[in-house]
Amino acid sequence: MRLSRRDFVRSGVVAAAAVAAKGAAAKPRRVEFLAVNGGLKAITLPDDRHAAAIKWPRYGEEEKRRVLELLDNNRFYDEIPQLEQATREYLGVSHVKAHCNGTSALVSMFFALDLPKGSEILVPSYTAWATVAPMWLFGYVPVFVDINPRTACFDLASAERQLTRQCRALVVMHAWGLPCEMEQICDFGRKHGLIVLEDAAQAQGATLRGKQMGSWGAIGVFSFQASKVLPAVEGGMGVYQTPEYFERATTFGNYDLPGKFPAESPYRGYQGTGFGSKFRIHPIAAALARTQLRGLDQRNALIAAEVRKLNDRLTQLPGLSEQQAAPEMRRVHWAANLLFFDEAAAGFSKEILLKALKAEGVRASGAPYDEQHQYRLYSEAKWWHHPPQIPSLPGCKQVNKSSVRLPLFTESASDLIDQYTKAFEKIWAHRDALGKS
Ligand SMILES: Cc1ncc(COP(=O)(O)O)c(C=O)c1O
Repeated sequence: MRLSRRDFVRSGVVAAAAVAAKGAAAKPRRVEFLAVNGGLKAITLPDDRHAAAIKWPRYGEEEKRRVLELLDNNRFYDEIPQLEQATREYLGVSHVKAHCNGTSALVSMFFALDLPKGSEILVPSYTAWATVAPMWLFGYVPVFVDINPRTACFDLASAERQLTRQCRALVVMHAWGLPCEMEQICDFGRKHGLIVLEDAAQAQGATLRGKQMGSWGAIGVFSFQASKVLPAVEGGMGVYQTPEYFERATTFGNYDLPGKFPAESPYRGYQGTGFGSKFRIHPIAAALARTQLRGLDQRNALIAAEVRKLNDRLTQLPGLSEQQAAPEMRRVHWAANLLFFDEAAAGFSKEILLKALKAEGVRASGAPYDEQHQYRLYSEAKWWHHPPQIPSLPGCKQVNKSSVRLPLFTESASDLIDQYTKAFEKIWAHRDALGKS
């Protein structure tokens, strides 16, 4: 058979007399080529297999049954206290309130703090708008803190440096499902008289020394938005360590609940108006959240196991690492399998890596995550009691520069994991064939 040059490159078959052992007949040897250089793709599974393995959210018969039941019986508002009861039991806490999303839970949290106007709050820049932007509504000012480049989470050393006399609180964010170092952070909070708060929107079900994230701080917040670990399409939850925080946060967005507070509650009198917002969760979302909560640990464990199968192989490759988790942490994974790519150690650029991965059929993205301090809102003095400082945060920069996001496999996916591994190993094996730009 005569192979054209094109067939030769695509099939990767070459007669390699040099490899034939002395005396043995020369055998054809398969030589692989990177897909980016015209070779065959490492991912050969069909697109629909790929799509099925990364599908999120995953709703099944139980969710459909609960929603249809609700549409039949019209007992919509019974769902909310039932979700709250299930959440208290799951977290082992006394006070929770469901909200219409994570953002409204955070707005209510800031209201609940009742700090003097001009109070400053330490917060990582590497977070969603909702952890920071609502502060202006209450006259609070963010003090942007860096993240640790090995964890992408709150960096205590940076917080020490940024701490001001006006700081009254700090909010951490458990990035991509990895718990922050809450013991040290709570010690820091106690030492400096700061209220410790948690944005646990990305980390429902994660624990540190067996204690649930979201239950470490004075107030913790979850999001049930569709991408989240516990998806209800939209929804949120606040977790409160004192009745005062619970009542104040609840009154902000619920005109109809203060009358249920104990007689001595200072907020009981606001029945009928609350403080002007309506942040009640949609009952169908509450039904989805309550049903999903039952399988939360199981789904988190399955996704984490698939990440381990892949990352245990990938992190052997020079220049690839992942968020560092301490042994006492049980992390979860939100939205992506986040890897860090060190161009110097690998010997080629992230841009080239992404191009090569794409050609192999790997669904990888190098998109940066939000750095709040770079948004316009924080640079305009008119919104703020006093203008926030816009610092330089090298940890954020490093994490975003090096981040490579892979999809999470949300069902057992050894077939795809093998092919993903092959794609990476092939690229590393042929590093010399990649451009060096
Ligand atoms: C860290 C963090 N906080 C808050 C939110 C806001 O939650 P929601 O979208 O439910 O309002 C998000 C959502 O992306 C988030 O990632």
